[in-house]
This record gives sequence, C-alpha cells and structure tokens, in this order.
Amino acid sequence: MTTLIVLLSLFTAALSFADEIPRQTNDPCAKIGGQKWVSPEDLRACYTSFAVDPVIKENIVDVINKTLAFHTSVNYEISAPEPFTEFVHEDLLKDLARISTQSYPSDYDLHLDLSRTLKRLNDGHCVWINSCYVALFLNFLPIPLALLTDFTGAQNVHIAPEAFAVASAEFPDEISVWQDALPPAIQLQSLDGAKVLSIEGQDSFVAVDTNALITGSFQPLGTRQNSFFSSYQFGDNGWTYIMGDFAQQSLPLNDSVTLVVQRVNESTTDAIQLPYRARINPDTVKFTDSASYRANNCLAILGTNGVDLNETADSAAPLSETVMKFQQQPPISKTFTKERVNVMLDTTPLSDVALPPSLIPSVPVVSGGFGSGQFYMQPDNITGVLALGSFGGDTIDAMMSGMLEGLVNLRSLGATQLIVDVSNNGGGFICAAEIVGPKNTTVPQAGLDTKARDGPLARLIVQQIIQSNVDPDQDLLYNPLNWDNASNVGFAADDDWLLPPVNLTINGHADAFSQRLGQECQPNDEALFSASNVVIVSNGRCASSCSLFSITMAKEEGVKTVVIGGKSDVQQAYCGTVGGQSTVFSELDTEVKTAKLKNNTLAPPDLLVNGVQGVTWRLGFGIQDPTQPEEWQPHLATLNLLLTPDLVNNPVAIWTNITEQLLTGKS
Ligand SMILES: *[C@@H]1O[C@H](CO)[C@@H](O)[C@H](O)[C@H]1NC(C)=O
Ligand SMILES: *[C@@H]1O[C@H](CO)[C@@H](O)[C@H](O)[C@H]1NC(C)=O
Ligand SMILES: *[C@@H]1O[C@H](CO)[C@@H](O)[C@H](O)[C@H]1NC(C)=O
Ligand SMILES: *[C@@H]1O[C@H](CO)[C@@H](O)[C@H](O)[C@H]1NC(C)=O
Ligand SMILES: *[C@@H]1O[C@H](CO)[C@@H](O)[C@H](O)[C@H]1NC(C)=O
Ligand SMILES: *[C@@H]1O[C@H](CO)[C@@H](O)[C@H](O)[C@H]1NC(C)=O
Ligand SMILES: *[C@@H]1O[C@H](CO)[C@@H](O)[C@H](O)[C@H]1NC(C)=O
Ligand SMILES: *[C@@H]1O[C@H](CO)[C@@H](O)[C@H](O)[C@H]1NC(C)=O
Ligand SMILES: *[C@@H]1O[C@H](CO)[C@@H](O)[C@H](O)[C@H]1NC(C)=O
Ligand SMILES: *[C@@H]1O[C@H](CO)[C@@H](O)[C@H](O)[C@H]1NC(C)=O
Repeated sequence: MTTLIVLLSLFTAALSFADEIPRQTNDPCAKIGGQKWVSPEDLRACYTSFAVDPVIKENIVDVINKTLAFHTSVNYEISAPEPFTEFVHEDLLKDLARISTQSYPSDYDLHLDLSRTLKRLNDGHCVWINSCYVALFLNFLPIPLALLTDFTGAQNVHIAPEAFAVASAEFPDEISVWQDALPPAIQLQSLDGAKVLSIEGQDSFVAVDTNALITGSFQPLGTRQNSFFSSYQFGDNGWTYIMGDFAQQSLPLNDSVTLVVQRVNESTTDAIQLPYRARINPDTVKFTDSASYRANNCLAILGTNGVDLNETADSAAPLSETVMKFQQQPPISKTFTKERVNVMLDTTPLSDVALPPSLIPSVPVVSGGFGSGQFYMQPDNITGVLALGSFGGDTIDAMMSGMLEGLVNLRSLGATQLIVDVSNNGGGFICAAEIVGPKNTTVPQAGLDTKARDGPLARLIVQQIIQSNVDPDQDLLYNPLNWDNASNVGFAADDDWLLPPVNLTINGHADAFSQRLGQECQPNDEALFSASNVVIVSNGRCASSCSLFSITMAKEEGVKTVVIGGKSDVQQAYCGTVGGQSTVFSELDTEVKTAKLKNNTLAPPDLLVNGVQGVTWRLGFGIQDPTQPEEWQPHLATLNLLLTPDLVNNPVAIWTNITEQLLTGKS
C-alpha cells in the first residue's frame, strides 16, 4: 500500500515536472497533445507528419475492395439511372486500383483521397471512415449559416439569427478568441442574421456548391447544399443544433474564412476574417505526442473486426465505438443488434450542441414517444406533432409501443391531423411505425421487397450455414431462416436462397443478386390518422429507415412531404440514401469467420486501423417501378418551405406554417 502511494506520488511529481519543461517542438503532434482547442494548421501538421505505410495502405484498400463485394450498388453507382446520373457516377473499383498505385505525401492525404472517393457515391451507407483522423477534433466557426428568403422572394446566405446564442453556450471557453479576431467595432453578436455577400471573395453559393461536391451522404443536390447550413434534430438528449458543414468540419479542411457581410439594419458592408478552431472530441483518447496519438486512436479496437460466433457465447459481435459514433442514430446496445437496421454512416458524429432555449418547442408535450421520438400538441389543439430524430437508440419494442401510445394519446386529446418532423433522421430499425393501419398496401408487406448481392463469397457463406451447420442459433445475416421469399413464405433451413442468382448487366458489368425477398414489416393494428391529414417534414436529410418510412407513406398512402430550407430553383427531395438494410465491415467479417471462410482469398483481411466501411447489404425495390431499386427513383417533396428569419431553426413556427399551408388552411 505504502509502496503504491510512493509510486503514485512519484508519478504525479513526474507529470507536473513534465508540464513545466518546454514541449518538444520537433514532434508536431506533441504541440497539440493534451490541448482542448488547437488551430487547424497545427492539427494538419500532426496529421500530415506520417508517411504512408505500404502495409497499412494495402490492408485498407484490400478491406474496402473485398467488402464492396457485399455492397448492392457498386455497379449501379458507376452511372446511376436518371435523374441521379449527374450526381452519382463513381467507378469505385477503378478508383481503388488508381489509389493502390498512386503515391501520397502523407497517410492523411491518402485518407482524404479514399474518403472522398467513397463520398463521391453520395451514398450514406457506403462510406469509409478512419477514426485516426475523422472527427478526432471538430473544426468550428462560431457563425453557423442559414439560407433565408426575404419578402421579395430573394434568397441569400445569412449568418443564422441564433448564431451567437448557440456559439456562446457551446464555446464559452473559446468565444473570446473569435471576438478578438474581429475589428474592435464589430461585436460577434452583431453578426447574428447578417447577410453573407461573399465567402473567400466569391459569391456565397460557390462555397455552398463546392461543399456539395465533397460532403457525400445524399444523392440529391439540394440535400447536399442544405448540409452546408444549420438545422435541428430531436434525439436522445433532447433538441440539438446542427452547425452545418460551414461551421463544423470533421477534418481540418480550412484555417480561416473571409466574409463580406451586411449586418442587420446596416446599409454598409464589413469585411471580416474569422479563424476556424479545432476542439478535441470528448471520446478521442488522450495523447501527448505522435507515438501516443497513433497508438491510442489509430489502431484497430474491440469490434473493428468480426468474430467467429462459435468461439463466443454471444449472438453478435460487439460493434466498435467507432461504428456507434458515426452511425446516425443514438447507439443501439449490443443486445439489440440482431434487429435489422438501415442507418446512415456519416463522418459527422451526432451533434450534442444545444438548440437555444428560445427555439425549443414550448407547446405541450403529449405522453408517449421514446428516446428519439417526442409528441407535441400544437396550440390549435387539432394538430399533433411527432418529432422523430431517429429510428434507433432504444429497443424496437420501446420504440413501437412509445409511438403507438403517443399517437393514441394525440387522438384522445382531439388531434385530427399529424406532422411528423424527421429532420436529420439518419435511420435505425427497419420496420418503423406504420401509422396507416392494415390495408392492401401494408399487408402482408408494409416495407419494401429487397434483394441482396449474390457474390461468390456470399454464396459460400450460405452453403456453409446449410451444409456445416455453422449457425445453429440463427445469428447470421445469411441464414435462410431469417428471410421470406417474394411470396412472403419463409425459407427452410436448407433453402439456398442465393441460388440460382438473378444475373443482371449493370452499366456494362455482369452482376448477380439474390431472388426477391418479401415480407419485412407489419402495420399497426389500426389506422390512427388518415393519410391525407399527415405531413412529413424534414430538411431533406432523412435517410435509410427514415427514407423507407417516408417513401412508403408518400408513395403508397399519399402523405404530403415538406423540405424546409433549400434553394427555390433546385428540386428538393424529401429523403435520400434509401438502401434497404445496411451493415458494416465488422458484421460481414463475423459472417465470414463464423462460416469458417476467413482463409478464402475473397475474404477481406482483418482491418489494422480504427476504421469502418459501410455497405448497403439489401437494396429495396421501388414502389412506382417495382422492378427497379427505389434508390434511383425520384422523391420530390410536395412543398419546399422557404426559410425566413422567423422560421429558421424554429420547429413550432415551422409546424404552424405547414399546418396553414397543407392541413387546416387547405380545407
Ligand atoms: C479488388 O478485388 C478484385 C477481385 O474482386 C481484384 O481483381 C482487384 O484487383 C482488387 N482491386 C484492388 C485495388 O485491390
Ligand atoms: C475551404 O478550403 C477549400 C479547399 O481549399 C476551399 O475550396 C473552400 O472555399 C474553403 N472554404 C472556406 C469556408 O474557407
Ligand atoms: C432592426 O430594425 C428593426 C426596425 O427598426 C428593429 O425592430 C430591430 O430590432 C432591429 N434589429 C437589430 C438587430 O438591430
Ligand atoms: C461451436 O460449434 C460446436 C460444433 O458444432 C458446438 O458443439 C458448440 O456448441 C458451438 N459453440 C457455440 C458457442 O456456438
Ligand atoms: C387548447 O386547449 C387548451 C387546454 O385545454 C385551451 O386552454 C386552449 O384554449 C385551447 N385552444 C384552442 C385554440 O382551442
Ligand atoms: C387497394 O385498395 C384500394 C381501395 O381501398 C384500391 O383502390 C387499390 O387498387 C388497391 N390496391 C391494390 C394493389 O390492390
Ligand atoms: C415461396 O415459397 C413457396 C413455398 O416453397 C413456394 O410455393 C413459392 O412459389 C415461393 N415463391 C417464390 C416467388 O419463389
Ligand atoms: C448466371 O450467370 C452464371 C455465370 O456467371 C451462369 O453460370 C448462370 O447459369 C446464370 N444464371 C442464369 C439463370 O442465367
Ligand atoms: C486458415 O489457415 C491456417 C493455415 O492453413 C489454419 O491454421 C487455420 O486454421 C485456418 N483458419 C480457418 C478459419 O480456416
Ligand atoms: C409560411 O412561410 C412562408 C415563407 O416560407 C411565408 O411566405 C408565408 O406567409 C408563411 N405562411 C404562414 C401562414 O405563416
């Protein structure tokens, strides 16, 4: 005991001594080690100080390449069908071949190329994230932007009217750095609502469109433009504020920004320059220098790779912290991973920035709901609202019963119409609430029929399950017992559902898919709201399960859809990144390992770095054209609600306006 105390105090003494000696200057990572706020230049200096390790590079490319054999859309994405052709035309395998032979000044530059190559798919399911760099620090400006429309209908980029309230609450320890960067006559707060006439000397929309080329995640242009701007989301921690790509970057892409602004009620303009400042993420493992940075944050961690389920007592391998951080849903605990999910991966972790109190809905909360879903009654007492920021984060049972309870309560309080606000809902459980009850569109299949990719390794996994009984507990995705055929009849344990394959030629490439899979979701027992009295609202950033929900509601039931924000001359889609069921490399690795196929030459090796590659594992068929994937069919919103200073990021004001335009006011 005494020895321990002596050792501890020696250790503490050593630490405080270390604090006093000047930091070593020749290690660029030592300069940022232990710091909360750093400059993006210093962060980049650390990131770019590592040369490409050819072994690691080959490993990453190999894992991505072989994992893509399970991604349904590789060949479609070489040149997506209209109306998406202009936005999705990435030949991944060709680009991976290019990357494998190309040299890079640093490992960080290699990462940028890999990340952007995958992001060019504009498919939030098929993303490469290396946690060694992505969101290790978030690079912030204190001035989130909004696209506002004035009384003449003109649209301009503005600093969000609530910018200072958000930034001063979120960055109390850094706000003075930004204030000090401004001319003494300009208070940071006075920039609230200012019109942004130019960014980096160019029309503000040049920056919006430049970002739309690299932000990824959504096929529609309007949605990627919207990601530049601030927005809100209801989640497990209540109402959060999303800074948008201009004011928050997951990599240190920009060091400062020069703007020409016209402040509210001013006739003159001001040129200002503000530095970006990078803040360490709370879950970044602490480091002091290059060696500890790499060791603590860049190597594979628990869950990066899969496991042979026959060697564990569990029914699923743990998902890594990295997967849970970047999946766009509150973390689903391991116990629930057997539930099928469809969820977007994004390089931006879920936000914990608070929506300012003045913007948080103060209308009465109606009991019901669950982690990421909350019910409200609008002041008219006839419009109920479901704020639904995710289809995950809770058990599926808690979600379903909470949704039903809220809907029933709204009805009993007299609500006859419903707004579902799915802003920034990145998905979650596949079988989301069906609010229209049993009808010929929801029984027996309230979801979409789907198909999986039928590659040679997938086929071997199914054969191993059938012939070698490697999955007695029915834990694997490829187990026939988990699926129904197109007549909604379940497969028998020995039905090889990948044979015969459906052979297709897509963009000139031979491809193979499973037969069509049927029944997936059941509707609620009763119709609680008539579809004509329901409106689904979002900023367009509704993906994955949220897309499946919105699409079935809009196309099968005629529910109206609204996109808030957006440029009036760009078509606005109410969702994107549809998929059908998503998964990640580690879960596929578990399939491979449990099927005893890890030695097969087609099997991806274990990943050596703290990364994740996502895929669309099943792709949903369309509603209007049931022969083709829904992913490539249009999802145009009924209404694009143009934002004004009164509406922007104010959920209740938005709901009230929509009620007038599409519900009460219409009848
Ligand atoms: C990707 O895998 C295919 C085999 O599926 C192989 O032909 C190709 O060379 C691989 N590409 C790279 C860049 O490793
Ligand atoms: C950030 O940097 C990129 C690339 O250098 C540039 O195109 C873009 O305009 C910059 N954005 C801002 C906001 O400074
Ligand atoms: C701008 O002028 C209007 C009308 O005089 C006033 O109501 C508003 O408070 C002013 N806003 C600011 C930020 O000065
Ligand atoms: C592993 O497989 C063997 C042989 O099939 C079986 O007896 C054993 O119960 C399995 N163990 C687990 C944990 O699944
Ligand atoms: C809505 O209900 C509340 C509480 O019962 C009541 O105070 C309010 O007057 C009602 N509003 C309308 C528009 O009927
Ligand atoms: C479903 O029922 C509606 C009437 O309720 C009918 O108009 C429609 O054609 C039916 N659709 C199918 C696919 O049977
Ligand atoms: C589904 O399976 C049932 C039972 O084996 C069979 O009768 C039916 O034809 C199958 N449907 C399809 C579309 O293959
Ligand atoms: C599908 O293509 C494979 C070769 O890739 C071929 O062996 C098989 O016969 C084809 N199946 C059908 C139904 O055409
Ligand atoms: C893979 O091959 C090695 C060497 O041949 C062997 O020791 C190992 O058991 C094999 N692993 C699996 C999962 O088949
Ligand atoms: C709704 O918002 C629009 C701006 O998008 C505005 O022109 C309209 O007057 C508002 N309508 C109501 C009823 O508030």
